[in-house]
This record gives sequence, C-alpha cells and structure tokens, in this order.
Amino acid sequence: MTEEKSDKTEKSKETTEEAAEEKAEETVEETEQAEKAEEGGEAKAAEEKKAKKSLPKPKAAAKKKPTPRKDEKYLSRNFEIPNAHNLDVYEANGGYRALKKAMKMDGEEIIEEVKKSNLRGRGGAGFPCGIKWSFLPKESDVPKYLVINADEGEPGTFKDRYLMELDPHRHIEGCIIAAWALGIRYCYIFVRGELQFAQRRLNQAIKQAYDAGYLGKNILGQDFDFDIYVHPGAGAYICGEETGLIEGLEGKSGQPRMKPPFPAVVGVFQAPTIVNNVETISSIPFIIENGGQWFADMGIEKNGGPKLYGLSGPVNNPGVYEAPSGITIRELLERYGGGMRDGHELKAFIPGGSSCAVLKPDALDAQMGFETMREAGSSMGTACITFMDTNTCMVRVAARLAHFYHHESCGQCTPCREGSGWAAKVLDSIEAGRGRMEDLDLLLDMCDNIQGNTICALGDSIAIPVRSYLQVFPEEFEDHIKRQSCPYPAWSKRKTSADSDAA
Ligand SMILES: Cc1cc2nc3c(=O)[nH]c(=O)nc-3n(C[C@H](O)[C@H](O)[C@H](O)COP(=O)(O)O)c2cc1C
Ligand code: SF4
Repeated sequence: MTEEKSDKTEKSKETTEEAAEEKAEETVEETEQAEKAEEGGEAKAAEEKKAKKSLPKPKAAAKKKPTPRKDEKYLSRNFEIPNAHNLDVYEANGGYRALKKAMKMDGEEIIEEVKKSNLRGRGGAGFPCGIKWSFLPKESDVPKYLVINADEGEPGTFKDRYLMELDPHRHIEGCIIAAWALGIRYCYIFVRGELQFAQRRLNQAIKQAYDAGYLGKNILGQDFDFDIYVHPGAGAYICGEETGLIEGLEGKSGQPRMKPPFPAVVGVFQAPTIVNNVETISSIPFIIENGGQWFADMGIEKNGGPKLYGLSGPVNNPGVYEAPSGITIRELLERYGGGMRDGHELKAFIPGGSSCAVLKPDALDAQMGFETMREAGSSMGTACITFMDTNTCMVRVAARLAHFYHHESCGQCTPCREGSGWAAKVLDSIEAGRGRMEDLDLLLDMCDNIQGNTICALGDSIAIPVRSYLQVFPEEFEDHIKRQSCPYPAWSKRKTSADSDAA
C-alpha cells in the first residue's frame, strides 16, 4: 500500500441516565472499568485508578483460543479489489446488502444484535458498542447526531485510514445502519487533517451514495432522512478525545469537556450524540449480515469479531493485517509480521499505541483482548503494535513520549500541562547523563500526581507509559545515571549487525 493511498430535555436526560444505570448494573466489572477508562472524570473511577497504579506483573498465559477462521477477510476484504472505493464495484461485491436487510429490522433488534456481537469500541477505550448505543435517548426534541472519530492521531496507529481510503462505502453503510437503528438525523466524520486522501475518498463515496439514494431524503423509499458531512481536523491530537473532538466540530479549540454529562446525553450542539471510531462502525454491516452471535464467536470472551492490527518497528512485514479478536501477539509478529528483521532482536513492545504500558517479550503470548491485555500488564488500545529492538534506549523512548504528550496537552489541567513538561525535562536529563537516582522516585511521584487527576485521559496517557518504562526497565534508567551517559548510540549512528554484514 503506497503512502499516497495510505481519515433535552430534562426528561430525556433522566431517562437516559436511568437506562445507563440499569445497563451498567447488568454489565460485568470489566465493562464498568472500560466505561470509566473511556469516560474519565468520575471521582470513583479516579480513586480506583489510583489504587491500581502499580502495574501487574506480566502474564504470558493465553486463555480461550479464538475461533480459527484466520484466513477469512471481512474488514480488509475489499482492500485488494481494484476500485472497490467506487459504488458499482462495492455493490458488485455485496455492498449495501446489509443496509437493505437492516432497514427491514427494528432499531431495538439491531441494537440487540450489536450487543450480542461483543463489538468493543475500536478507538482505544474498548467500550461495548451496543451498550453505548442503548444509552442514546429514543425520543429527543432536537436532531440526534452520529460523530465518527476518524482523527487517528495515536502514535503507532494507522488502521482507520485504510478503511476510509480503500473501502469508504463500507464505512458509509455502517453509518447509515447506525442512523436507522438509533433514529439519528445527521453524521459528521471528523477526519484527521493530514489524511487528505481519506477525505477525498470519503467525499467521493458520499456523493455516489447520495446519487444512488442511500443518503439524503427518503432513503430506499422509506420515511428516513440522513445526511453525512466530512469535517477535516486541524492537526491536534487532543481532538481525538471525543469531547475535544465535539468542541472542535463546534468551531472551538479542542479542549475536552468534563463528563458527565456524556455525549450520548449532551453531545455536539448540545444534542444527543453517539461518538464511534471508524473501525467500530465499519464492522456493523458484517454484524447485520451474519448476526451478532457469528461476530461474537470470532473472538474470545467479551471481545468479538474480526479486527485490524497494525504492526510497526523493525519487523519484516510492517503493515495492517486482519485477524480475529484474541489472537496472540506472537502470532501477529511471526505469522503476519514475518518476525523481527535480521539483526534486530526483540526487546519490548507496546500493544496499542503510545499511551499503553510497555511489555517485554515474555508477554508475547498474551491475547489481543481488552481483559487479556490488562492481565498482561498493559492495554489493548488501538491494537496497533510497535515493536522495539535491543538497540532502543528505553529512557529515550519515555522522554520522546513525554515530549509528545506535553506538546499535545490542551493546557486546561495543571497536572497534565505542567507534569508532562516536567517529566520530559527530567527524562531528557537522565538520557543526557545528568540524572540523579532520586529523579526516579520524582518521576513516579509525578505520575501519581497526574494519573486520575485530569479532565480527560490524556493525563493518564503520560503517566501510564512513563511509569511502565521505569518499572519494566529500571536497570536501564539506573545504568544511565551510574555511568552519567546514555549507553545507546544516537539515533543517526545506530547500527545493526545486519548493517555490519552488508558492509
Ligand atoms: C487523548 C485521547 C485521544 C484519542 N484519540 C482517538 C482517536 O484518534 N481515534 C479514536 O477513535 N478514538 C480516540 N480516542 C478515544 C475517544 O475518546 C472515544 O473513546 C472513541 O472515539 C469512542 O469510539 P469507540 O467506542 O467506537 O472506540 C482518544 C481518547 C483520548 C483520551
Ligand atoms: S488532561 Fe491534558 S489534554 Fe486532557 S483536558 Fe486536561 S490538560 Fe487538556
């Protein structure tokens, strides 16, 4: 894939909140934790997070095996079909069949299938999609909105762009099904500003869908009107956080809102809003076509369906691959990624974007699921894995991440705004050979003061990785301090044994 190819009423509020409470009671502990992780800002969640600050020891044991349908393709089925981004080719390959089936179903029936499917949000927090959908008030005095999070800014993450560039109609079909099921009138797809090709492909596909009667007024002859707009972002990572994104859509700077109220109750333009990731919504047509149980079976407990995985770092075949939920990281690396490149020995990896805790190779047999990755000591995140080799300085990686999050902090919360910059400076000084042993406790103390004490989860995205690098590779930090220098060569001077062989 080339780079070029490579995006109120008071009554209704109460009803939704009551429904949310009921549903939350029905769900298991993991679901509650996912909700808290996603929605943040609740004092209880913050307390629980604090209590869990010590990272659990990595466990390598895999539990239930995913259903072995590894070579079947769904989400990536159209990636290699020439011109599948065009309506005629998409329809010739079964496109819009799911929409026609969905429009013979009742909204509640669709929500039930999505719940049954165990589809977890693919944007990183893993909130169960069907449960989120059930939080949206059924009746509303104002139009309801669907907002697609296509900001894809998490370092190491590059899966949604493939869906938007190569199979945009699948995504549009998923949006229309969601709108039909939930009584939604308008949709905004908020696409990362840099993904211009994805924006063009989406706009072209949206025009084709309007011309064919899949969008606009009286869709497929029914009393159903639905419009989609593509909204380019302006490059801020924080606009990937759902309430920052909503602020950005409203024309303001992307500063996250306190939650509650959650977007399902008060979202964009103060109206009930569902925010979902691109991959989450692109999965919906498959659930409608094949049923929620079929989707749930292609995975492990509480984590259903086919999934896109990104592999990056010094592996033989970096890229985006489709496999069932619950696949082990080892299998992704060896079978799909072709293993580490010659001369590059695996030292560490982060399972789903830079805000996840780092793991050592002893966790390679952990399964890709939200609960299993937590048990392994990290998180599933976006499921785009970054592998690092033994040439990688862990102090430098931690410093780089702290700089990134400091740069992207919106500045509303003191712990995030100040703590990120301070952590970056301390990590820089350790890496440059000016560190003191007491800096290690200072860094951990900073992490304690950031985590759980901010409006949005960007604060946690600084504290969690920094703490993990310190706890998983303590000897490396101590070594920098003892020898008063970095034992690793500068990036520009790095050499691998493969380079030496070539010379
Ligand atoms: C700092 C930050 C950045 C985020 N960036 C993204 C992003 O780029 N794309 C995305 O889909 N979700 C992102 N999220 C998660 C969203 O807030 C939200 O959980 C997600 O869009 C919900 O969709 P889902 O349930 O389908 O995953 C981010 C969250 C945080 C805290
Ligand atoms: S945690 Fe950081 S990014 Fe999030 S609202 Fe606070 S200052 Fe802004």
